[in-house]
Amino acid sequence: MNNFNGKVAIVTGGASGIGFAIVERLLSVGAKVAVADLNSDKLKEMEETHKGNLIGCVTNVTKETDIEALVNKTVETFGGLDYAFNVAGASKPGAIVDQSEEDWDFTVDLCLKGVFLSVKHEARYMKEHGGGAIVNVSSLNAHVPMFYGAAYSSAKAGVEMLTKNAALELAQYNIRVNAILPGLVATPLTSGLTNIEAINEAYMERIPMKRAADPAEMAGPALFLVSDDASYVNGASLLVDGAWAVTGYPDLSKFM
Ligand SMILES: NC(=O)c1ccc[n+]([C@@H]2O[C@H](COP(=O)([O-])OP(=O)(O)OC[C@H]3O[C@@H](n4cnc5c(N)ncnc54)[C@H](O)[C@@H]3O)[C@@H](O)[C@H]2O)c1
Repeated sequence: MNNFNGKVAIVTGGASGIGFAIVERLLSVGAKVAVADLNSDKLKEMEETHKGNLIGCVTNVTKETDIEALVNKTVETFGGLDYAFNVAGASKPGAIVDQSEEDWDFTVDLCLKGVFLSVKHEARYMKEHGGGAIVNVSSLNAHVPMFYGAAYSSAKAGVEMLTKNAALELAQYNIRVNAILPGLVATPLTSGLTNIEAINEAYMERIPMKRAADPAEMAGPALFLVSDDASYVNGASLLVDGAWAVTGYPDLSKFM
């Protein structure tokens, strides 16, 4: 993977967890990175640390005008856009019979519409400038349902299909679009559950590798998918889950 030097990448959700690990890996191989996130304090800190190689863009990925501004600022600052990693995501869980419309909309807007808007504007630029490569972060839950996760699992399944549809439409412009589907990754998103011993044990019973991934273990697969080594990989879903998909999700209903 030697084609990153001087390349320009956008990472949404790059101020924490998986996105942050992707940002660090991109910088370590010589890329310039525009980090899009709601967390303005962390963005400022990252900009200070990596002056000249990183810009922080306060962005709400559910707002189209924010995404347009993000792409424009990236191109103005670094002179182009080669790769994009659409990572931002979170959820408000709830049983289907109880979940409010508001919580459903929060989750689906962030996890699915946010990726649509990101791909739309990233690809618009790439289409006019010789192509590029995009990775969307879906989830094991695109394939495996979880109690109280109907909105999240549905949105992540949507991200997987959106990725395939984007690959179909954008291949003619030399743009590849792939997805990674993480299993359990140790980040602030999951610590609320995994810090509860009984829940963590239930996860570990199902994960053949008997541990959560470190966020850095998502960065290699994500960078591989945009790299020239993956030049014929397009519309693919790469499970990065320590073989969790082969056993299924634990029954979380007994803990709620
Ligand atoms: N951690 C896991 O086990 C796991 C598993 C499968 C999939 N994922 C997916 O990976 C992605 C990253 O998760 P993570 O675990 O690193 O979470 P995280 O909470 O550590 O990081 C998410 C980042 O997204 C940002 N964000 C939230 N809403 C935003 C918005 N509207 N606009 C811009 N930025 C926003 C947050 O500020 C945060 O910096 C998510 O899409 C998540 O669904 C995570």
